[in-house]
Amino acid sequence: MYNDNPTLEGIDKKVDESKQGEVFFQENASEKGKKFYIESYGCQMNFSDSEIVASILGESGFSPTRNMEESDLILINTCSIREKAELTVRKRLRIFDKVKRQRPGMLVGVLGCMAERLKTKFLDEEKLVDIVVGPDAYRDLPGLVAGAEEGNKGVNVFLSREETYADISPMRLDSNGVSAFISIMRGCDNMCSFCVVPYTRGRERSRNAFTIVAEATNLWERGYKEVTLLGQNVDSFKWENPETGKVVNFAELLIMVAEVSPDMRVRFSTSHPKDITDDVLYAIRDHENICNYIHLPVQSGNSRVLKLMNRTYDRPWYDAKVKRIYEIIPDCAISSDIITGFCTETEEEHQDSLSVIEFARYSMSYMFFYSERPGTLAARKYEDDIPLATKKRRLTEIIELQNQISKEENAKDVGKTFKVLIEGDSKKSDQDFKGRNSQNKMCIFPKKAGLKKGDYTYVKILESNSATLKGEIV
Ligand code: 5AD
Ligand code: SF4
Repeated sequence: MYNDNPTLEGIDKKVDESKQGEVFFQENASEKGKKFYIESYGCQMNFSDSEIVASILGESGFSPTRNMEESDLILINTCSIREKAELTVRKRLRIFDKVKRQRPGMLVGVLGCMAERLKTKFLDEEKLVDIVVGPDAYRDLPGLVAGAEEGNKGVNVFLSREETYADISPMRLDSNGVSAFISIMRGCDNMCSFCVVPYTRGRERSRNAFTIVAEATNLWERGYKEVTLLGQNVDSFKWENPETGKVVNFAELLIMVAEVSPDMRVRFSTSHPKDITDDVLYAIRDHENICNYIHLPVQSGNSRVLKLMNRTYDRPWYDAKVKRIYEIIPDCAISSDIITGFCTETEEEHQDSLSVIEFARYSMSYMFFYSERPGTLAARKYEDDIPLATKKRRLTEIIELQNQISKEENAKDVGKTFKVLIEGDSKKSDQDFKGRNSQNKMCIFPKKAGLKKGDYTYVKILESNSATLKGEIV
């Protein structure tokens, strides 16, 4: 899930806007030994990877700190999805360099998609960086750090066909103690023409289903109430049990995780419209704790553009999928990702992207203008020919319509009562709680004695706007 700034300015934003670049920190972390400081950008997968990195470093004697000035190792987990994301990282590296000059011996490492995309160029060009580690090489990090301490700059950007970090128990960083991510697969084989992910994260592979269930069980036992299963394309999850030869698909995995406890909510992201099956929809319908919310990126509402994007479905097919979801799960919320101004997109085709928002009645969308990424199919085959001003104008139109639809959809919730999982105090007032309903909508409501973070409560919605529902506990 992604989120860009509707003003079209500022840093590349995704997941929860407030979390971009957030410094990870674990409560009660050990105070001894060397310290690392880690910032994460980009998708939830990157945030989840940072927890794997923290666990690997923890095993080799490092503890996390929020304060980069006192760290021995600064890490930045990077995103390449749009140019803006990469520019943000470059700015941060210059700031880290200033800190490093004050602290001899400090090391700076670049992790994630940008490390993979730019490989040794980082060491040659930037001179700001000591370590470059791609998404499949995090186990090598302690060794590379040791080498860099000896003055040998370290790079490992090998992509793997097997690595899933299945055995690593992520160090939950900056967690609210209520909800956690579980990475269920890595990489992507889809080759959407605009997307750099298949190049930076490599081939798709699914993690051992039993280790996923074990991780969910462990989280439940530690008091977590919600897990989000993460992958670039979760619906193509496929894991073969080497002992029995039985293949576990995504619908089956969802049910296995849901059965850990009926009181633990299960979410997942991201779904590809071509791969989500009726069995997944039935699993959602039949399990109260599998949330009624599907992130189903459309990318474009026009069949010709979808073909250029290599999305492998057309508009009628997408519309039919949306209809099927509402048929099987009438109160499901659907959200989307939309790209405006893709190569050769005409005004009429842009109108189709507006119409799909109306048709699907998305609860929200992450909306972007097209940013050409070197090496992708689109960069090689098509000219990036839509002027920036046009891309931005189309994006503004998309955002305005989506806001309108979100507002209308949220208004329909006024008067309804939802089961809400309390995530903590609302941002604006410590007199109010915030929490989400099954549809992933944020609800704000006055606190009540006896209830705390991590509890479920029923909230009757009294008012709404395009972003939140406000109500009272009933
Ligand atoms: N330009 C703009 N947006 C992109 N996305 C992926 N690649 C690009 C690109 N080159 C968007 C897609 C995807 C989301 C993760 O980011 O909408 O679903
Ligand atoms: Fe990129 Fe398409 Fe894979 Fe998503 S499904 S990561 S957009 S290639």
